[in-house]
Amino acid sequence: MTQGELLAAVRMQTLPRHVALIMDGNGRWAQRRGLPRVEGHRQGIQAAERLIHFVAGERLVPCLSLFAFSTENWNRPQEEVDYLLDLLARFIRERGDEFVERGIRLRVLGAVEALPPSLQRAITDIEARSRRGDALDLAVGINFGGRWSIVEGARRAAALAREGKLDPGALDEASFARLLPTAGFADPDLIVRTGEEKRISNFYLWEAAYSELYFTSILWPDFDEDALLEAIRDYQGRRRRFGKVEA
Ligand code: IPE
Ligand code: IPE
Ligand code: MG
Repeated sequence: MTQGELLAAVRMQTLPRHVALIMDGNGRWAQRRGLPRVEGHRQGIQAAERLIHFVAGERLVPCLSLFAFSTENWNRPQEEVDYLLDLLARFIRERGDEFVERGIRLRVLGAVEALPPSLQRAITDIEARSRRGDALDLAVGINFGGRWSIVEGARRAAALAREGKLDPGALDEASFARLLPTAGFADPDLIVRTGEEKRISNFYLWEAAYSELYFTSILWPDFDEDALLEAIRDYQGRRRRFGKVEA
């Protein structure tokens, strides 16, 4: 199928409202070519940019999440960590204008206060400037962890309770979800992980309760528009029951 045919096919059925991507396999992509791991990250960010522009340009889905740097990724060699965070800062600074022009609203999820100050500044700036974007809601996880996110929600709940603004006994799933860093985003309908591994690696946990999971051996730098459309087609063949019985 050509890309046009694939696009037409996925548009015939219900599209996910939120697709989350675990971008894995950059290092292996590079190593297989005899290149340093960081070259995989450089290619990986280009693959991400292409996909973001495709999804926004086609108005394919209203919300996209990208997992860029986990709370565990600090445990990599310092050099690689520095390279990755610098790459992200440069990407946001250099590509920010284009995001704003294309109506992409970017929000970073994660413990940003632990990030290098230059990256923090780039994030604050792009979040403010892209605020009115209506082509795509883009969530990028940087120093994000699913467990961090839930603990963050618990901390906010505790703080509100201390101030007398929340009755702990009245806290329920819906009100707790509104305290999470992911509040405002629909739960992901589809989570895609590239790069062979079949795990969540501490990405969305709370939000993934009823997500459909899709794993592909394609390494992230090779994950292109057609691969995304294939994942969506696979998703459209799933029968989501949400614990009920089929009608
Ligand atoms: C994904 O690629 C990027 C990040 C996790 C930051 P990896 O760097 O994990 O690549 P592999 O899994 O080692 O191939
Ligand atoms: C998951 O990839 C995290 C991101 C894509 C940011 P990892 O490469 O860090 O995951 P593990 O170590 O294989 O579980
Ligand atoms: Mg990996």
